[in-house]
Amino acid sequence: MSDKKVVLVTGAGQGIGREICLGLAEKGFDIVGVDILADPENRNKGLFEVKQKVEGFNQKFLSVQADISNLDGHQKILDSTLDRFGRIDVLVNNAGVAPEKRVDILETTPESYDRVLSINVRGAFFLTQRIVKHMIHQVGEDANRKPCIIFISSISAYVSSPSRPEYCISKAALSMVAKIFADRLAEFGINVYEVRPGIIQTDMTAPVKEKYDKLIAEGLIPQKRWGYPSDVAKAVVSLARGDFAYSTGLVVEVSGGMNIRHL
Ligand SMILES: NC(=O)c1ccc[n+]([C@@H]2O[C@H](COP(=O)([O-])OP(=O)(O)OC[C@H]3O[C@@H](n4cnc5c(N)ncnc54)[C@H](O)[C@@H]3O)[C@@H](O)[C@H]2O)c1
Repeated sequence: MSDKKVVLVTGAGQGIGREICLGLAEKGFDIVGVDILADPENRNKGLFEVKQKVEGFNQKFLSVQADISNLDGHQKILDSTLDRFGRIDVLVNNAGVAPEKRVDILETTPESYDRVLSINVRGAFFLTQRIVKHMIHQVGEDANRKPCIIFISSISAYVSSPSRPEYCISKAALSMVAKIFADRLAEFGINVYEVRPGIIQTDMTAPVKEKYDKLIAEGLIPQKRWGYPSDVAKAVVSLARGDFAYSTGLVVEVSGGMNIRHL
């Protein structure tokens, strides 16, 4: 069994997930990175680029290519983690997608609705359910183990965007998923947290960069800048290493103050 803590990060191949892997590797975690983006020939993008970087911190990195919306693949994710490391201490449910096209709520298609919810909510829910059963077993064997689960939701859990309702609905639902798991798992000493990023500069927001540049310049964000993946990763590292041990169910917003309502 690995003598280091092991974290499993979904959507680890780029953006926020990638930065979470690097932040946790720097703090001494071994990492399992799950993503669709996993081409061993491509060292510039995807899990194999992240693997190189993590190994640069002298940590181990296991790449698992999987689509989290395919529930049949979840056992393989757990099995490969246990085969390699023999333990799992932290699960970061980060993989998520925006709608392929922003479309007004009056025109949202069932296909887009199902796609976004099946990845952002259904996939994360059932992957968590499976991993948690193993975590409960681990805690039963050694009560000193304090595993935790972190969900990356979004300010879209409470901000309305009529041009991408399926995304907002998925993040509002994910927020409740985090709350219910926190409630259910407290008796096992497994803490559950929700991290809510605001507007973060990644490939996901690249298509709307100009729109957000303008809104930020006009004062949309009190802290007056884009968020970076490293802003989110720092919060995740702090939660994962146990700085908030008496705060299960905590929601940490990383949005430059977009949570502030003002007159
Ligand atoms: N960028 C933002 O402004 C922002 C804001 C709030 C919340 N978020 C959330 O943060 C998370 C990461 O977003 P990001 O900006 O880094 O996005 P991104 O598109 O840059 O990266 C997402 C990663 O998830 C992977 N992925 C997508 N679908 C997957 C699936 N079905 N199975 C496995 N992997 C899958 C992608 O291949 C990619 O590597 C998402 O849940 C997103 O909703 C992002």
